[in-house]
Amino acid sequence: MSPAAPRRSWLTVRAMDVVTSAAALSLLSGCVGLLGLLFRLRQRSRMKAHLQDAVVVITGATSGLGRECAKVFHAVGAKLVLCGRNREALEQLAKELAASPASEVRTHAPSTVTFDLADPGATVAAAAEILRCFGHVDVLINNAGVSFRGAVLDTPVDVDRRVMETNYFGPVALTKALLPSMVQRQRGHVVAVSSVQGKISVPFRSAYAASKHATQAFCDCLRAELEQHGVAVTVLSPGYIRTNLSLNAIAADGSRYGVMDETTARGRLPADVARDVLAAVGGKQQDVVLAGLVPAVAIYLRTLAPGLFFRLMASRARKEQKPKDA
Ligand SMILES: NC(=O)c1ccc[n+]([C@@H]2O[C@H](COP(=O)([O-])OP(=O)(O)OC[C@H]3O[C@@H](n4cnc5c(N)ncnc54)[C@H](OP(=O)(O)O)[C@@H]3O)[C@@H](O)[C@H]2O)c1
Ligand SMILES: *[C@@H]1O[C@H](CO)[C@@H](O)[C@H](O)[C@H]1NC(C)=O
Repeated sequence: MSPAAPRRSWLTVRAMDVVTSAAALSLLSGCVGLLGLLFRLRQRSRMKAHLQDAVVVITGATSGLGRECAKVFHAVGAKLVLCGRNREALEQLAKELAASPASEVRTHAPSTVTFDLADPGATVAAAAEILRCFGHVDVLINNAGVSFRGAVLDTPVDVDRRVMETNYFGPVALTKALLPSMVQRQRGHVVAVSSVQGKISVPFRSAYAASKHATQAFCDCLRAELEQHGVAVTVLSPGYIRTNLSLNAIAADGSRYGVMDETTARGRLPADVARDVLAAVGGKQQDVVLAGLVPAVAIYLRTLAPGLFFRLMASRARKEQKPKDA
C-alpha cells in the first residue's frame, strides 16, 4: 500500500505539472491577447485624441471617398476644410455635417474652399484661404482625382496633361503652398490617396496610372526630406471603390467617359474605405495598400516576376481591346 502511494503521487505530480503548465500557457496567451487588445484600444484612443480638434483639409470632398472621409473625420472631432470645385455641393455637405447628431466628442462646423486643382494660380490662392480657416493645417488629405479610360494610341498628349494637372501638379502645388507653415510649426501630415495603380499599371489607364505613380514617387521623396521637420507623409493605395470615379473619368478624346465600370461597381463601399483612411492617418502609417489579395499579389508579381506580370497585362489588353474592335 505504501509503495504505491508515493508512485501515485509522483504520477499525480507529473499530471499536475502538465495541467498547470497547460493552464499557465493558456493564461499567458490570454494575457498576451488581453495586452494586445489593451494596446489596440490605447492606440485607437490616442489616434482619436491626435485627430480631435486637428485641422484636416480634404480635397475632393463633394463625392465618393472624400465625402465619406469628411463624415468620419468630422465624427472624431476634426476641424475640417472641405475642398472641391462645386461650391454648392461643398456648402451642402458642410451644413449636413454641422447638423449631424452629436457624437461622443466635440465636433466642429466645417469650412469650405472652392477651387479647381487643374488651375495652378487658383490652387496657390486657395492654400492661403485654407490657412485662414483655422490658422494652420495639421493634416492635408490630397484625395481629389480624376480617372482616365482609353488606349495610348487614341489619346492626344493634352489629355495626359489634363489628368496630370488634376492628380499630380495640383496636389503638388497645394502641398508646397501649405508646407512652409507645417515646417515652421515643426508638425504636419501630408496624405495622398493614390491607388493600386500607383504601384502597377493596368492597360487602358495610362494617364491615370502615370499620375498615381508620380504621386507615389513624389511622396516617398517628401517623406524622407520632411521627417527632420516633423512632417509625416502617408500614401494610401486603395483598390476599386464603389464611387462615380469611372463615370467622371476622362476618355481618350477628352470627353467624360460616363460609364460605370463593372470593377468599380463591385468595389468596396466608400464608407468602409474611409474608416481605413481614418485608421491609417490616425496611426501615421507611411504606405498602406487598401485592397484585396489579387491586387496585393499583382504588386509583388510586378517586382518579383516582371516578365510574368507583363504577359498577364498584355493578354488582358488583348481581351479588353476585342469588344472595342468588334
Ligand atoms: N473609385 C475607385 O475605384 C478608386 C480606386 C483607387 C483610388 N481612388 C482614388 O480615390 C480618390 C477619390 O476618388 P472617388 O473614387 O471618390 O471619385 P469621385 O467620386 O469621382 O470623386 C472625385 C472628387 O475629386 C474632385 N475633383 C475632380 N477633379 C477636380 C479638380 N480639377 N479640382 C478639384 N477637385 C476635383 C471632385 O470634386 P468636384 O467635381 O466637386 O470638383 C470629387 O469630389 C481619387 O484620387 C481616386 O483616384 C479611387
Ligand atoms: C454619384 O453621382 C450622383 C449624381 O451625380 C450622386 O447622386 C451620387 O451621390 C454620387 N455617388 C457617390 C458615391 O458619390
